Amino acid sequence: MKKILTIIGARPQFIKASVVSKAIQETNGLTEVLVHTGQHFDANMSDVFFEQLGIPRPDYQLNINSGSHGDMTGRMLIEIEKVLLKEQPDWVLVYGDTNSTLAGALAAAKLHIPVAHVEAGLRSFNMQMPEEINRILTDQISSVLFCPTDSAMANLEREGFNDKPIQVLQVGDVMQDSSMFFAERAVKGEALKAVPESNFIVATLHRAENTDDPVRLKAIVDALNYIHKNILPVVLPLHPRTQKVVKSLGLQLEMLVLEPVGYLEMIWLLKHCNAVVSDSGGVQKEAFFFKKPCITMRDQTEWIELIESGANILVGSNEDQIIYGVKKMLATTGIKYMNLYGDGKAAKNIVEFLSSL
Ligand code: UD1
Ligand code: UDP
Repeated sequence: MKKILTIIGARPQFIKASVVSKAIQETNGLTEVLVHTGQHFDANMSDVFFEQLGIPRPDYQLNINSGSHGDMTGRMLIEIEKVLLKEQPDWVLVYGDTNSTLAGALAAAKLHIPVAHVEAGLRSFNMQMPEEINRILTDQISSVLFCPTDSAMANLEREGFNDKPIQVLQVGDVMQDSSMFFAERAVKGEALKAVPESNFIVATLHRAENTDDPVRLKAIVDALNYIHKNILPVVLPLHPRTQKVVKSLGLQLEMLVLEPVGYLEMIWLLKHCNAVVSDSGGVQKEAFFFKKPCITMRDQTEWIELIESGANILVGSNEDQIIYGVKKMLATTGIKYMNLYGDGKAAKNIVEFLSSL
């Protein structure tokens, strides 16, 4: 029996891991040990995903969160190492680009346990982003890199990965799998009772480059308030990071603000909205999966094929640019939502490869 030890900790990782864990369970000869670092810990940032997506209860809950980057990553490294020494897995599986990703990969690599990185090869080319540091370092110390897109493969080729003794594979995007799998189960539910049935914009906002800069954050809040009053109602399930900063700066959110919602509610919002305004990585792709134009409040994106397709535009954090972007995308017709992220079999591809090693 081959043992895969999976490290997760942040909201998008629960969603990505859900489909892969299911594929592991369905594969003979593989067993999974699930480690939750505790990075996200509120019920609506963690438990709800385990319940809705049927993710097994974590075997280890490390309860590490809310520190600085060094503090959080360092404590995770210490605790994950202890788990790895005890469990002696054949592989460590990590997802994306959070502090939990880097800590898991580093702890494993130092113990010479091979690391498989899901969502490898993505680059924003902005080293100010904690995610960029995490993903570059994780790719460097992994033994198998599972890339979701052509551009991720091209990034790794440019960085010389083809000449290294590691496996680089394009498997598709696991978020495409989970969107396809859960689309029919989307529910409006109690949490969305104040949301109109149609004709609204869904927004999310949490990236450090926006929340930690008061000028950027105020411009974004002003833009969303304007859009809500003058264009279409804006529904904003608010990340706890942003909630805290908005409160401390005394900013007024004049749109429909919700607590973070579960995945099934989020999918309902994405299916029924007219457009998406976000700085999230995952939500940009989900807008595309559900054929909704996306206005991205960032200066770069790792998902450049979305920009090339015309379904997504980058507007940074400038108030006028955000408003202009929303008007432009709502008026745009004829966007082609081609298949950019695989056929919903990324999890199967990943697990088949791991079991073949
Ligand atoms: C993290 C990831 C980011 C990812 C995001 C997904 C890093 C460096 N960043 O950012 O790449 O896009 O998750 O959502 O790993 N908090 C709560 N309750 C929670 C979770 C967080 O109150 O359940 C608070 C923390 O106490 C902290 C703040 O939110 O004050 C930020 O949390 P943290 O995990 O450091 O980063 P995220 O912004 O969530
Ligand atoms: N999401 C959710 N509820 C919310 C906001 C987001 O379920 O209130 C989901 C979203 O559909 C996507 C994932 O969380 O699947 C994206 O996570 P997030 O935006 O926190 O992180 P990122 O993708 O930017 O790293």
